[in-house]
Amino acid sequence: MSSNKGVVVLGSTGSIGRQTLDVIAQHSDRLHAVALACGTRVAEMEGQAARFGVQHTAVGADAALGLIGLDDADIVVNALVGSAGLRASYETLAAGKTLALANKESLVVGGDLLMPMAQQPGQLMPIDSEHGAIYQCLLGEDPREVSCLWVTASGGPFRGRTRDELAQVTASDALAHPTWTMGPKITIDSSTLMNKGLEVIEAHHLFDMPYERIQVVVQPQSAIHSMVEFADGSVKAHLGTTDMRIPIQFALSYPERWDAPVEPLDFRTLGRLDFAAPDTDTFRCLSLARQAGAVGGTLPAAMNAANEVAVAAFLRGDCGFLDIPACVEAVMSSHDTQPVESVDQLEGVDAAAREAACRFLSSVHVA
Ligand SMILES: NC(=O)c1ccc[n+]([C@@H]2O[C@H](COP(=O)([O-])OP(=O)(O)OC[C@H]3O[C@@H](n4cnc5c(N)ncnc54)[C@H](OP(=O)(O)O)[C@@H]3O)[C@@H](O)[C@H]2O)c1
Repeated sequence: MSSNKGVVVLGSTGSIGRQTLDVIAQHSDRLHAVALACGTRVAEMEGQAARFGVQHTAVGADAALGLIGLDDADIVVNALVGSAGLRASYETLAAGKTLALANKESLVVGGDLLMPMAQQPGQLMPIDSEHGAIYQCLLGEDPREVSCLWVTASGGPFRGRTRDELAQVTASDALAHPTWTMGPKITIDSSTLMNKGLEVIEAHHLFDMPYERIQVVVQPQSAIHSMVEFADGSVKAHLGTTDMRIPIQFALSYPERWDAPVEPLDFRTLGRLDFAAPDTDTFRCLSLARQAGAVGGTLPAAMNAANEVAVAAFLRGDCGFLDIPACVEAVMSSHDTQPVESVDQLEGVDAAAREAACRFLSSVHVA
């Protein structure tokens, strides 16, 4: 790999993609963009390509796959949204390139396939701030001495609400996230706590940790990005400013650390750090995701597809907030779980679960 690494940005027009380009611009002596892919905002991507001198672009997840094998592509940032990103993660690892992974759905759906392919240290770098935090807490540690991972959660915009109150909330209420500005799908997932459920499954795969040793704790200030507890009771926490460019940069700079143009955390003005247990009775998606993860096999893929369909329907105003967990639960209960075998198989499971989710949503919303 040359000292100036070539980066493919899949999902360059999204929240993570744009911030990845910010990091590349900031470190043009160490990184350059070699290819970009997007879904619909083609004019914006062309503007990015012109600004960064990028010659290769693609529209759509299938076309994006063609960028991974480019000779000067050292790192692929997978910032696509949803299970559409699975094959890109797979092809990146199969090509022996570094995968900087924001697309958590890849690991939720295909962790059993992807993790055995990522055997070189640093070949699969998480971009999710929680997993980046855990990754850093584990550096230099013996994994056998880890007793528990603590994944922190902001609690989302509806923390403290009752189920009756949640029945009335709209997509625009849910899009007002208290601490992070993100794409619409992950913002809704944060408000249902499904995002934390997906992250628990992601942590299970990335760090080879049994589910009973992965805890979720609400930390409303989002200053602690996650923690690792060790056999002697010591706990290491990762703190920092809530700016996704920091975990994105770490995924690209590892094993080095580079300067970042972000305001450092000022502990004198931080005031307080609060902690609480998540309300899993009201926000059922977290428990459903844990359940899917614990059963394993193809169930997380079915669960994830149902969630994607329900979230898209909620964003369009076609279903209520509480229909999201109801849809996920209905699809999970009718799924015939099999061991994971291949990307083709998982794409089939994804498609069938999407159909089941659509049938469920149309049955509860018959005009
Ligand atoms: N945002 C965050 O702070 C954050 C933090 C941690 C993890 N993540 C994860 O990072 C991923 C991306 O999140 P995001 O918030 O950046 O989402 P986003 O703002 O919605 O961006 C998604 C990107 O993917 C592109 N895209 C979607 N479907 C595509 C397809 N079929 N083919 C090609 N491109 C496609 C979109 O293109 P167009 O917009 O042009 O259609 C856009 O560039 C998600 O898995 C999310 O969970 C995000």
